Amino acid sequence: TTPQLLAGKRVVITAGPTVEAIDPVRYLSNHSSGKMGFALARACVAAGAEVILIAGGKVALPTPLNVTRIDVLSAEDMLIAAQQCVDGRHSALQYLLEEEHDHSHDHMHDHSHEHSHDHAHNHNDCDCDKEHEHTEIITDDSVKVADIFIATAAVADYRTEEAAPQKIKKTQDAMTLSLVKNPDILATISLAHPKLFVVGFAAETQDVERYARGKLVSKDLDLIACNDVSRADIGFASDDNAMQVFFSERYEHDSVILEKASKEEIAKQLATIIGETIWQ
Ligand code: C5P
Repeated sequence: TTPQLLAGKRVVITAGPTVEAIDPVRYLSNHSSGKMGFALARACVAAGAEVILIAGGKVALPTPLNVTRIDVLSAEDMLIAAQQCVDGRHSALQYLLEEEHDHSHDHMHDHSHEHSHDHAHNHNDCDCDKEHEHTEIITDDSVKVADIFIATAAVADYRTEEAAPQKIKKTQDAMTLSLVKNPDILATISLAHPKLFVVGFAAETQDVERYARGKLVSKDLDLIACNDVSRADIGFASDDNAMQVFFSERYEHDSVILEKASKEEIAKQLATIIGETIWQ
């Protein structure tokens, strides 16, 4: 049996890509599969944690057992979801996401109903006035702040400045998309919650250690797990991974190498490292 190193801990994990709408039928995204984040969710549950998994874009993976899953599309929505979950307010989340959204790509939410997810959608349970629902902040005893935040999501660096409300017609020979930078979800959450134990991921092709250490400091992380994306046999859509984990100067360890293994196995090792480090 797995040691219960995360017993009683609430863990919030972001996973998968984000999807940035161009118009109601088109979007910008990336090839992230969500496998690493989903494997980590399973590993954290096995180690005794209560896990909320925020899946971006169109992750087509089944929801791990005993995990609360929240599907979002864009980086902006992922940030709202992460903030709410870390502050223990995920039961109020769906109203907020609807409020923030201009509904221009609501149809993209449809895919999520194909799976039997454990959504934090409970707006159908309530027949009160919608305007009122939107502004309601839940402050009951069920509010429990998170202990650990793990950012595995491949967040799109840029989004369209504004999604077109109607399908863009192919009348011009050339077109230009104007992009703006997305918020850094990990840095925003981490810097706003000094007591939260925060784990980042990084994919670097060169100077892995220097960039990793830079992010540990600039995003105020406890741990950062680095993939070497110059290797063709691991990463993104692959079932395998290999990593080097760097620790904040607060801890006695400097770094550890996790040899190539399945993402499930790597996730178990990471959950153990997190569990051991959090008690230091
Ligand atoms: O700065 P970089 O994109 O390399 O950082 C990667 C880490 O930051 C990952 O943990 C990723 O999930 C997180 N991240 C984020 N929001 C962004 C960009 C990256 O949460 N906009």
